[in-house]
Amino acid sequence: MAEVATAADPTLGRRARAASRPLAPAPEPRQSAPVPSSRGWAPSYRGTSNLEPSSPAMAAGSGGGSRRARPNVLVTGTPGTGKTTTCSLLADAAGLRHVNIGDLVREKSLHDGWDDDLECHVINEDLVCDELEDVMEEGGILVDYHGCDFFPERWFDLVVVLQTDNSILHDRLTGRGYTGSKLTNNIECEIFQVLLEEARESYREDIVMPLRSDNVEDISRNVGALTDWINNWRPS
Ligand SMILES: Nc1ncnc2c1ncn2[C@@H]1O[C@H](COP(=O)(O)OP(=O)(O)O)[C@@H](O)[C@H]1O
Ligand SMILES: [Mg+2]
Repeated sequence: MAEVATAADPTLGRRARAASRPLAPAPEPRQSAPVPSSRGWAPSYRGTSNLEPSSPAMAAGSGGGSRRARPNVLVTGTPGTGKTTTCSLLADAAGLRHVNIGDLVREKSLHDGWDDDLECHVINEDLVCDELEDVMEEGGILVDYHGCDFFPERWFDLVVVLQTDNSILHDRLTGRGYTGSKLTNNIECEIFQVLLEEARESYREDIVMPLRSDNVEDISRNVGALTDWINNWRPS
């Protein structure tokens, strides 16, 4: 299937592309970080997830003054970290509408044409934002995309950044047919936590929630915890 690029690279967003060169020893992925709180958040598990009860992200889920009745959640991360898998399950479990930006761009031609070298459509970010503005205002949308710095900050109540062990991600991406620089760029994007940094620079840090997505247990734990968060969310 065709990729959708935010610009020059088929798989990485602006900041990811800019940061794809190694500059320093790879940092250890964070094992636990906070999530915005929907009121009364109480996780039913412990472990590697970032869904800690005291997490600012989980604790911040209170509507932010929006008029929407249900929260909007962005699920981002390096390609292959499990965004679409997680969003599909979460949309069913929590009753949100899953918007896969790559699919939307292709279906509605929200791009600036096809790049032969990169073998991808080049996303038109303005067209994407215009297309989604009204539905985002209504709320209850789960956005799935490997970039996050061009959406309006006010759209989201929670920003989930999926993270995967480098060797596991390598196997997933090679299984998907990624080779050469496309594979290397994506692995470096994950090693340097580019999407997490992009999310923290683009949104209030207390609504950014990094979540581990190495195995199926992680998926079910994440979907369960996020479903609880969504169901407990109330407009402020
Ligand atoms: N936590 C996970 N555990 C095991 N396999 C996973 C996990 N997340 C994703 N996968 C698998 O990895 C591949 C890529 O997942 P996908 O959801 O398409 O990622 P993304 O949308 O982030 O590119 C799929 O084959 C999927 O089944
Ligand atoms: Mg996907």
